[in-house]
Order: sequence, then C-alpha cells, then structure tokens
Amino acid sequence: MCELILSLDIYEEKKIKEIINVTEKYVNWFKLGIIPFLKFGPSIIEYLKKKGKKIFLDLKFFDIPNTIANASRIVFEYNIDMFNIHLLAGERMLEAVLNEKEKNKSRSIVLGVTILTSFSDEDITMLGIKRSLKEETMFLASMAYEKKMNGIVCSVSDLDFLRTIFPKPFIMVCPGIRTTEYADDHKRVGGVKQAVSFGADFIVVGRPVIESSEPVKAVKNIIQLLEQ
Ligand code: C5P
Repeated sequence: MCELILSLDIYEEKKIKEIINVTEKYVNWFKLGIIPFLKFGPSIIEYLKKKGKKIFLDLKFFDIPNTIANASRIVFEYNIDMFNIHLLAGERMLEAVLNEKEKNKSRSIVLGVTILTSFSDEDITMLGIKRSLKEETMFLASMAYEKKMNGIVCSVSDLDFLRTIFPKPFIMVCPGIRTTEYADDHKRVGGVKQAVSFGADFIVVGRPVIESSEPVKAVKNIIQLLEQ
C-alpha cells in the first residue's frame, strides 16, 4: 500500500495549523522540511505528535560525519518517524548516521536522497558528474542498499528500474507528484497511479494540496487515486 505524505512547506502559523487541522482526518504522515522547521522549530513537531501523526523530517543532511551523527542523535531524541540525508555526502557520513541510530536503539526510518527531481541530465553534466543521471541515481541507491539504509527518496521516473533492482522492504519515497500537467520547479514528475504501479511506498505532495483553494478535495482526490 502506497501512502500519502503531505508536505507542509508553509511559514505562516495560521495557515500551517489550518492545513493540518482540515487534512488530519485523511492524512497520517506529514513532512516538515526546512521552511516550517526554520520558522517554527520543534514546536511544530510537538503539534503533530500531540495529534498522533507520523513525521517525515526532511532536512536533507549534508555535512561531515561527526556533525551529521550529532544532528541525527537529536532527531532520535525527538522520536521522529522518518528523516533523510543526502547520499552525495558519501559513505562515511551514512555509516556515522547508522552507527548513531544503533547506539540510540532508534527505530526511525533513515532515507538517502538520490538525485533531486528538479535535476535533469543536463544539470548533472553541468556539475561535472561523469555518469548519466540514471547511472548516478543507480550508484547512489546501491550505496544506500548495501549500507542497509531503510530506503531512498527518488523520482517516479526512476522508480521502474530502481524497484526491479532493490525489492521491498527497501522503502521508496517519491516527491514530484503531479495530478495536472503543470510541474512547478520539478523536471522529473510523475502521477499517483504511476508511483503506485511502479512500487512506491510513499508519495510526497505539497503545492497541489497546500496551494489549492480546496485542500481537502485535493487530498481526497489523491487518496482515491492511491486506493484505486
Ligand atoms: O510542492 P511539491 O509537491 O513540489 O513539494 C515537494 C516537496 O518534496 C518539497 O518539500 C521538496 O522540498 C521535497 N522534495 C524532495 N526531494 C525531491 C524533490 C522535492 O524532498 N527530489
């Protein structure tokens, strides 16, 4: 079963609480990224926890191993359900986080971010990366799999080949989901049905819901597609 994670990229207190309150009946997982976390800090974690909601803390850690291991310890203290680190930060950083997780006996799901959905093949070449976007995604996903991370964040457009190589229970979380043709700043988007049929465990949706004039209707529409 593929689940919806609602991305709360909102910096106005009234609006974020309103969105949480009107959607909580339908949504179990909420994503807190850099926008709400910078604005509200741990209080927004508390707000969701009190409602019994699951939290995906999307801060995409990328730093030296010691710093990230110490930051992860705080995530474990908050009892966060799922969080992520950039796979491009390398093996030693991943190992430091996983060691910290073991030390803290945490059950938090640790995901590795592959290549952002706002990247195209051209963007990868511009950065001087010799592999193609697909090869680099494969390389990073293999690293996460071999290091026994719980899963990855990837584009729906990479899901078909990734899922055939890395079977469940390796978790695949897909942002860049669109129900219309407008893709915002993503270059590699996909639909809900595509995500489900290729084996995504979670889809992450933000603007199609939080910027909708009818957020509840937008959520219900996505859930209906997930259940079909
Ligand atoms: O509004 P939208 O549905 O595009 O929101 C997608 C969310 O997923 C944003 O919070 C963005 O930061 C996040 N994201 C991600 N990894 C990607 C692409 C987007 O975590 N590859």
